[in-house]
Order: sequence, then structure tokens, then C-alpha cells
Amino acid sequence: MTGGPICRSLTKLMSDGADLEKILSTAVEQLHGSNPRFHWTGIYELGPDNVLRLGPFLGAPTDHVFIAVGRGVCGTAVAEKRNVLVPDVSKESNYLACSTATRSELVVLIRRGDRIFAQIDIDSHELNAFDPGAVAQVESVAECLAEAYVRAKAP
Ligand code: SME
Repeated sequence: MTGGPICRSLTKLMSDGADLEKILSTAVEQLHGSNPRFHWTGIYELGPDNVLRLGPFLGAPTDHVFIAVGRGVCGTAVAEKRNVLVPDVSKESNYLACSTATRSELVVLIRRGDRIFAQIDIDSHELNAFDPGAVAQVESVAECLAEAYVRAKAP
């Protein structure tokens, strides 16, 4: 499945009234299954305390359940309000190892304008695993999830 079909299934869940937890876990399952290079796929949610907290994920368990803004690749993405692509994690100084098998990583923010809700984090055992098509796919799912957050958090 590419970003389009995944977004369609997430939009269907939203219109069926599914809760955010279900929408997030479905996004993780479908993204993880969409690309054989995605070996760890998860969502970190940003709390009001400026700490990222691990939500649904697939892949090896990680010690990094809580990550402060600014720490590691995940915390850098929030601190700098940008998506981060690390083609070779051995060359990244601000990196928290989730698994020794990881060679490359992609973090895409789930945001609406300046408001950051969460992020999609994907690790691969392959170097330079994220080509422009893969990045675009994850970005499109993140945009779809931003809509789910806006709806869930609407007053
Ligand atoms: N590598 C991330 C930590 C999260 S694990 O990859 C699941 C980082 O540097 O922030």
C-alpha cells in the first residue's frame, strides 16, 4: 500500500468515528507492511511537558519510550520543527540507538502549521533506505494523521 490507499483507509476510520488510538495503530500497521525496508515503525506523541512518548509501534522493543525535545533524531525534529532523514546513523552524533541493526532512520512530523502533535519514526536495517518515494509516502500518511489529531483535539 502506498500513502494514498493508507490515507483512504484512515479517512474511512475517521468517518466511522474510530478513536485516535485505533487510527494511529492502523497507520503504523499499514505503513510497516508497505515497505520491506521499514524494520521499525512507530509514533511518538509530543506531550505538553515537551517530552515525546512512544505510542503504537511495530518492530523490536526499544528503551527509548520517553525522549526529551532536542535529544536524538526524534527530539531534534521537534526542536527544529522539521522532518529529519538520516541516511547513515553511524554519521549522526545526536542519535539514540534503538537497535544495533539500524542503519538509517526517517522522522516525519505530524503537524498542522507550527502545532506539532506527534511524529512517525521509521528505522531501517539498510543504509540509505528512504528514497524520495518512501519519504513522500510517509509524509502523506503524516498529513492524514494530522487531520485525525485536529479532529480529536477540536473543542
Ligand atoms: N533513533 C531515535 C530513537 C528512537 S528509536 O529509533 C525507536 C533517535 O535518535 O531519536
